[in-house]
Amino acid sequence: MRTDLDQFSNKKLKNKENTPLAFDRKIFIYKSEWILKIKGKRNRLIDIFINPTSLQEEKINKIYNLPVEEITSPLSKFIGKKLIYMTHGLHIYPAKFIPQIPQLCIRKYSKPSEYVIDPFCGSGTTLVEAILLRRNAYGIDINPLAQLISRVKTTPLDLDELEFYYQQLIEFLDLGIKNKLTPLESIPNNSDFPNLEYWFSEKVRMELKQIQNQINLIENNQIREFFLLVLSTIIRKVSLADNDQLHPAKTKYAKIQKNHTIPTFEIFKSTISKKYKIMKHFSSFNFSNVKCEIIGKDATDIELTNGIDLAVTSPPYVNALDYVRIHKLEAFWAGLLKEKDILPLRQQFIGTENIYVDEYKELPQSPNKYLNEVLKKIYKMDKKRAGIIYKYFAEMTKNLGEIHRILNEKSKYCIVIGSNYINNILVPTPKILIELAESEFGFKNIKNYVYDIINRRLKIPRADHGGTIRKEWIIVLEK
Ligand SMILES: C[S@@+](CC[C@H](N)C(=O)[O-])C[C@H]1O[C@@H](n2cnc3c(N)ncnc32)[C@H](O)[C@@H]1O
Repeated sequence: MRTDLDQFSNKKLKNKENTPLAFDRKIFIYKSEWILKIKGKRNRLIDIFINPTSLQEEKINKIYNLPVEEITSPLSKFIGKKLIYMTHGLHIYPAKFIPQIPQLCIRKYSKPSEYVIDPFCGSGTTLVEAILLRRNAYGIDINPLAQLISRVKTTPLDLDELEFYYQQLIEFLDLGIKNKLTPLESIPNNSDFPNLEYWFSEKVRMELKQIQNQINLIENNQIREFFLLVLSTIIRKVSLADNDQLHPAKTKYAKIQKNHTIPTFEIFKSTISKKYKIMKHFSSFNFSNVKCEIIGKDATDIELTNGIDLAVTSPPYVNALDYVRIHKLEAFWAGLLKEKDILPLRQQFIGTENIYVDEYKELPQSPNKYLNEVLKKIYKMDKKRAGIIYKYFAEMTKNLGEIHRILNEKSKYCIVIGSNYINNILVPTPKILIELAESEFGFKNIKNYVYDIINRRLKIPRADHGGTIRKEWIIVLEK
């Protein structure tokens, strides 16, 4: 049964923004703001909302001579279950930010029904928060797997059809578990994708292909994409790659014989039942008055004319993760990547290490004095590295220009980023980005929040090269 939010909301349950959030029953009003609570330990209700007004009591410091507001303590409350409500926990994604960060920016700098964009949307954290808070959302990401995750996480499904296809898949998997499926004549191998036989035993390749074929029979695009994404979540588990390593690497103990016993059908069955519950819950809310769209793939060339009320993002770091390599196995099985796509795709990532010699033959010159000093030092030690850093800031400058172009006057661009040490030299990315935004496009840096980067599983702050606690910034730029 679909819960009609608009029906659910009544006069008492209107917040100051006058719109209900996409949750029922567990919504409370506190100081005229909506507070969402989710079930925690022993069924006790816990908050997942960060209160923007409470932050004003925090300390103001200076870093790189810029005023920053410390928000480590209010953010540190958000761990465990408080990070994976609704569809946030549907698929893992490296360097994903916690939902409370975009939530804070969206609540502080936009209103319901307005348009929010995340030009490096990754797994769609901003987009999910935006639609839960009743904003319209646009997402952009170069990584095809990120586009799929973002689309699925923000698309409520027809509950009857979802149930129908779910039951059909369960029946199919039960046949697989009982060994009653007809074996396939051809199984994916190295000619379909590089080293496929290295990563998956023959039995697993056969079973994954059988599941993939079955999912591809689903006519409803949105439901098919949901199940393909669920398939992507089990790929590491059924492969010979170590589940704990970011980049696929064979485990020390991985032996083909051992892998024969990996119960692919059982693992997929238990995973879809969990993900189905998440999707059913999310889809039971009415999102009809907001829309979310993935509008393209390049944050440096945005296919919109204007009309955006807020941009919130966490762009890649200077020494960016190699998302193509990290996700190549998942992307292959989700039907998103072929061998010929890998290299050209890699080259389009901001922060890519795949650059041409021509790009660093000479010491690159930036319009930013500070960046030029950093480049000069690094160029002496490592020419290619200097080229990579230069290119990173050049591409980020294009992105700043694109966001400036599509934002409405006085609207904000919130960028979540930290500094890096490269070849033992500090690259103060937040400072450089702020200076470039101001000097090249006339943005005004109206606020900066900072917080310690903590390992949320262990609740331990992560130290930097110099032994200091690493900070991440939320830079707020105004057009
Ligand atoms: C730090 S991640 C974003 C994570 C996201 N905030 C989340 O919560 O999942 C940075 C993203 O930038 C994307 N990216 C890199 N280069 C890009 C480009 N040229 N255009 C668009 N996206 C790009 C990567 O694919 C990656 O998903």
